[in-house]
Amino acid sequence: MIKACIFDLDGVIVDTAKYHYTAWKRLANEIGLDLTLEENEQLKGVSRMQTLEIILKKGNLQDKFTPEEKVALTTRKNDWYLGFVVKMDENEVLEGVEDFLKTLQNNNIKIGLGSASKNAPKILEVTGMAKYFEVVIDGGKVKKSKPDPETFLLGAEGLGVLPSEAVVFEDSYKGLTAAINGGFYTVGIGSSEILGEAHLVLDGVKDMTLDKLHSMNI
Ligand code: BG6
Ligand code: MG
Repeated sequence: MIKACIFDLDGVIVDTAKYHYTAWKRLANEIGLDLTLEENEQLKGVSRMQTLEIILKKGNLQDKFTPEEKVALTTRKNDWYLGFVVKMDENEVLEGVEDFLKTLQNNNIKIGLGSASKNAPKILEVTGMAKYFEVVIDGGKVKKSKPDPETFLLGAEGLGVLPSEAVVFEDSYKGLTAAINGGFYTVGIGSSEILGEAHLVLDGVKDMTLDKLHSMNI
């Protein structure tokens, strides 16, 4: 019996993945590097500082900056990102998400959020989605980021369910791996080329139904 759904935020609930990419690409360009869409796939679901480290490593620049300079770089990226966030409202919620969350509520299925983003609470607030989430695990609450399962395990614990009773919705390979590592049922949101290991792959939450949810653990 599925008792809970835990959603990733960026790229699942809202289309913020494009804003993260734009801001990281701008930062990469400023330090003389490029960032392709393909490379960006590896950055999805990764924490802010780890993302910077991956980008720096690409240009062999890991040792060029002091820890303080690295913090300053991530702060710059985040300021640009927040420039997009302040303009966000409920129109940025992806198609079908709110309807599905209402369906879950009406059927007593618990709802949690498991995101690597420290901006997650703010984004839930500006998009009017905060009211649906009983538990929010964001980037500030975990020690180990995805693909470690900690984010989703804390989410399940907060909701009082076992991983085997919960479905995780993820658009990133690292996030999907985290959910699989934690023993959850998984719905990949995006391409089956990247998310083929998920129990179910959909274009968006708009394609999810209660029937599909309950048939996952039969
Ligand atoms: C993840 C995104 O959800 O959060 C990443 O997929 C992002 O792209 C990460 O870098 C950290 O986000 P933030 O908002 O804390 O910088
Ligand atoms: Mg995501």
